[in-house]
This record gives sequence, structure tokens and C-alpha cells, in this order.
Amino acid sequence: MSFMKNNIDKIGQILEYLDKYDLYPDSRIICGGADPEVIIDNKKVLMFSSNNYLGLATNSFVVDAAIEAIRKFGVGSDGSRLLSGNLSIHRELEERIAKFKGGEDAIVWPTGYSANIGTISALTNYPNLIFGVGQDKNIIISDELNHASIIDGCRMSRQKIVVYKHRDVVDLEKILKKYKKKRKLVITDGVFSMDGDIAPLDKISILCKKYNALLMIDEAHSTGMLGKTGEGTPEYFNLKPVKDIDIVMGTFSKALASTGGFVVGSRDLIRYLKIASRSYIFSTAMTPAASASVIAALDLITKDPSIRQNMWDNVEYMRKNIQKIGYNTLDSSTQIIPILIGSDEKAIQFSRSLFNRGIFGPCVRWPAVSKGMARIRFTIMSTHTKEHIDYLIKSCLEIGKELNII
Ligand SMILES: Cc1ncc(COP(=O)(O)O)c(C=O)c1O
Repeated sequence: MSFMKNNIDKIGQILEYLDKYDLYPDSRIICGGADPEVIIDNKKVLMFSSNNYLGLATNSFVVDAAIEAIRKFGVGSDGSRLLSGNLSIHRELEERIAKFKGGEDAIVWPTGYSANIGTISALTNYPNLIFGVGQDKNIIISDELNHASIIDGCRMSRQKIVVYKHRDVVDLEKILKKYKKKRKLVITDGVFSMDGDIAPLDKISILCKKYNALLMIDEAHSTGMLGKTGEGTPEYFNLKPVKDIDIVMGTFSKALASTGGFVVGSRDLIRYLKIASRSYIFSTAMTPAASASVIAALDLITKDPSIRQNMWDNVEYMRKNIQKIGYNTLDSSTQIIPILIGSDEKAIQFSRSLFNRGIFGPCVRWPAVSKGMARIRFTIMSTHTKEHIDYLIKSCLEIGKELNII
């Protein structure tokens, strides 16, 4: 009883602190689809924070595919993939994403988060599974800015975790050398979700081969985006899944505009994950509508390269102009364009001023990023117009001057 009371007191103190310093996150309710113009609190605002990079979430071809799947399969998937939830649409999706990525086979989960935790823990716990407890630990080597779902997967693996400096291949090699004789798994985001920069995958892949380490990448923000056909970071660097990258993980929740996560790799890897990933086995399968919408989105971006071209044109236009007025966009070279603000308080103020001017651009602050690195994280969509972007730039110029940032 007293334990419960103590814990509740602690929770109360945390909430009081956040309220006192006005730090509790604004969580605005959005009414309507993920378009460049949305209604929030009865107000029309420009959306500059969507993961729907290619504008496919409300595309009629994609929406119709989802509706058709609901008519055929119903709204839910009825069970786990190992029991009653193994639908033909799931298998069709796995074959499609494996082909799109150039791997041998694929496995899908209901979310990207569950894909990461289920894959990392399954891959690094196998000695225990087969040989019993007490074997040599695996070493997981992870970029310091990897996504929270990777960090949680690493923690769930109960293996030794070594973090290397962000995108720093010299530091990575030092660690690989130190653990030369151990089983090693190197994990990196392809595109980093808060900074919008790209991992040096070509160099990382060479190092992993040299030191006999497994390589896993998280393609959440690169799938549908990077490379000539949108396959992702491997295509951008002219690398191939299986041959150069052992585990290609990704989500359907960004450019492919739906929900769900996947891993593409060798046939054996996929067969293994289907019997070893706890978040795959003990969770209800992806919905039929989400699965069908991803297949339709893949069809669209394969057939119509102009969708991706519009997005890149907008991205370059935004980056060039926001830098011109004096903002630091870190090392971003993708559709995720952060502007560095610094303190949490100023970033909150900046985001609220944007909203008052009819722009949705939330701030990202500690603990999502390091202290002093608070930022406004803009994302650009293929469906933004130049007028939308011009209005954003003008607003950032005015607010930046008001707050003494530029
Ligand atoms: C890099 C990265 N990995 C994984 C995830 C988790 O994906 P999902 O939102 O589909 O669960 C995200 C989501 O924000 C992400 O940015």
C-alpha cells in the first residue's frame, strides 16, 4: 500500500513540475486526413510535421484498396499470424515488400515499433534459445541517435549494448576491433528521425564484413524516399539487402502512409523471425486495410515517379530558403528538416507562434533530443505547394527575429 502511495506521489510531482514550467507537451487534435491543410481546434492550419511524405494517406487509389480489403476480409485480422490471423493479404504484402527491397523474403508486424523490438531481441537471444542460459553474450553496437524502438529492442535483448558516436565510422571500427571475437550486431537508422541525416551505410557495411558483424538498418524514413526507385538507403549507396545488409527493417507508417513494420532479408532469417519474434507471435496481425493500402502505395510509387520527384523538388526548395534566412538545419539532407532553436522554452514558444500563424510545426526537445538541442522538426510533403512553403519561410523569419534566434 505504502509502495503504491509513494509511486503515485512521484507521478504527481512529475506532473506538477511539467505544469509549473509549462513543459507538458501540447497534443492538438487533428480533424481530417493527413493533407497539407488540416483542421485543428476548428482552425485551418498548414501541416509541416506529417510522416505522410508522399501524400498517399488520402490518395483515392490507396483509400479504395483499403476499403476493398475491409469488404473482403473485415476490419480486423482475427488473431496472431501463427494462429487464425494469417491472411492471404499479409502474405501478398510480404512478397511485395521483399521484391520492392530486393531481398529474398519478408515478415510484417502491426507496427514498426514491434518490428524493431521483436527482431533485435529474437536475433540476440538465440544462443539461449538453442544452447541454454549462460552462453557468451552478444554485443549490440548501436548509433547514439538511433530511434527509441531500437533502444527498447536492445534493452529487451538483455545483451551487452555498446553505443557508437553518431555516424562515426572511426568510433564504430574501434568498438568492432575491441569485440573482434564476440558475436556482433550493428544497428543504425538509414535516415535519422530527428536530424534528417543519412547513415554512412557504404562504410558501415564494409566494416561489418571486415569484422564479421551482422548489420541491421532501420528504413522507417527512407523507404519510398531514398534511391532511384525509392527502395531506400541501400539503393542510395548502391548496396543490396542480404549481400551487403543482413537485416533491412522498416515501417509502412511514413511514406507508405499506413501502419505496420517489416523486415526483409534472407529466407532463413525470415523463417527464424516467424518463430522467434515475440511481438510477432503474441500480437494480433496487421489489419487487412493497412496491408492492402501499402500494396496500393507501392504500386503507385513504382508506376508514377513524379510523386517522389515533387517531394524532392519541395525538399530542396525548403532547405535552400530556410538556410538562406539564417537557420541551422543540422546535417539534414532529406525530407526531415529540423531548425535548431536551442532551449526547450524557446522551442515551445516558437512552435506556439507558428500555430498562431496557422502552421503546425511541433518542437522536439529533451528527452527526445539532447539538452540544448531543442528544435522545430519540419517535414516536407510532395503535396505541399510553393505557396505553402513560402508562407512557412516568411513566418520562420518573423518569429526568429522576435525571439532573437536569427
Ligand atoms: C526510425 C524509426 N523506427 C521505427 C519507428 C516506429 O515505427 P511505427 O511508428 O510504425 O511503430 C519510427 C517511428 O517514428 C521511427 O522513426
